Amino acid sequence: MDDFVWGVATSAAQIEGNAGRGVSIWDTFAQRPGVIADSSNAEVACDHVHRWADDLALLADLGVGAYRFSVAWPRIEPSAGAVNTAGLDFYDQLVDGLLARGITPVVNLFHWDLPQWLQDAGGWSDRSTAHRYASYAATVAARLGDRVGTWATLNEPFEHFVLGHVTGEHAPGLNLPLDQAFIVAHHLLLSHGLGVQALRAAGAERVMLINSYAPARPASPAEADVNAAGLYDVLQNRLFTDPVLLGAYPDELAPLLPEGDLDVIATPIDELGVNYYSINAVRAVDGPVPLEVVAPEGYPTTAFGWAVAPEGLTETLVGLRDRYGSRLPPVTVTENGCACEDSVSDGVCDDPDRIAYLDAHLGAVRTARAEGVDVRGYHVWSLYDNFEWAQGYTKRFGLAYLDYPTQRRIPKTSFAWYREVIACGLP
Ligand code: BGC
Repeated sequence: MDDFVWGVATSAAQIEGNAGRGVSIWDTFAQRPGVIADSSNAEVACDHVHRWADDLALLADLGVGAYRFSVAWPRIEPSAGAVNTAGLDFYDQLVDGLLARGITPVVNLFHWDLPQWLQDAGGWSDRSTAHRYASYAATVAARLGDRVGTWATLNEPFEHFVLGHVTGEHAPGLNLPLDQAFIVAHHLLLSHGLGVQALRAAGAERVMLINSYAPARPASPAEADVNAAGLYDVLQNRLFTDPVLLGAYPDELAPLLPEGDLDVIATPIDELGVNYYSINAVRAVDGPVPLEVVAPEGYPTTAFGWAVAPEGLTETLVGLRDRYGSRLPPVTVTENGCACEDSVSDGVCDDPDRIAYLDAHLGAVRTARAEGVDVRGYHVWSLYDNFEWAQGYTKRFGLAYLDYPTQRRIPKTSFAWYREVIACGLP
């Protein structure tokens, strides 16, 4: 795997803290009682906005070839019509710092933290948000494009669509009926297509979309569960991929989505980012969303309760190749990792379960490559523990432990293990 790119990923809202930026939908959402497990918020998070130089040192110590981070849209456009130069300066210095250490920046433009002023103007239910997104993408690319080659338009639009606009578990916390919510999916896809065009116009070399994938298994052989798993598969694994790579919505959903825009949405991309954590079991339920996702039986689970199923990553990668054939661009696994019950004792955080998880999933990547899938890289989620959305600080995904009271970053055993993998190739 000589030319294989090893990386780690983070996102702005989960690490930066809110100093120097406008209000995001997650700031507003976290104020609602009961929506964040530990009643916390991301006001400080990992204080990356002040500690970025320490974080560069941590990345250099890890030895990664690439670092994927996201730009906080509310830091660039804190209010309608405003561009915050200091916000651009922040990412500018980060990019320079990465390049000085030989680390390739992978810049993701949207990881769920919409500016609140845009939500107030209708958010993703409103078509104008997609055009605003393209203009924001152009602003960031104009500033960083001379040094950043690899861009992502969106991270996991499926999760943002469903959790944010249907189940209400994530910001902006809406409970739209599923059929009405599809307009949100369409506008997210349109923003992706317009964003690709804006980035290309600014000279971007490589543009990708980052989706999450999870093979779906029926929770029982009952016909209703089999159908529910089929619907879930279309929603999770195809709604945000078919239009981009095939220029068409899945037949099952097409009647629910607007016509038009598919030529923009299908603007060619150079790479597909694949986030993978687990497989899911699905059962039919009565309700506005006619299905429920549960952990499949018979698998060990992570501290999040997610099944540890590395074979699902091979299945995902091979399945993408089989479904999209020559239309599938090269793939990078842009997120993979697990939550563990981490703690520090005598200054050491030993996390053998995380090492076992990552090791098994790297094996799954190796199998997919052996089966001919063009996988170019792998990013661990995440560099360090951070604000885990509705779980607050209760779930830890990092290679480094974040001691929140002191903001100390304490590399876990998995950090040293991953450094070794990067230096020597797969063990
Ligand atoms: C998201 C991350 C999140 C991780 C673990 C992914 O869905 O992109 O932001 O922290 O999963 O839940």
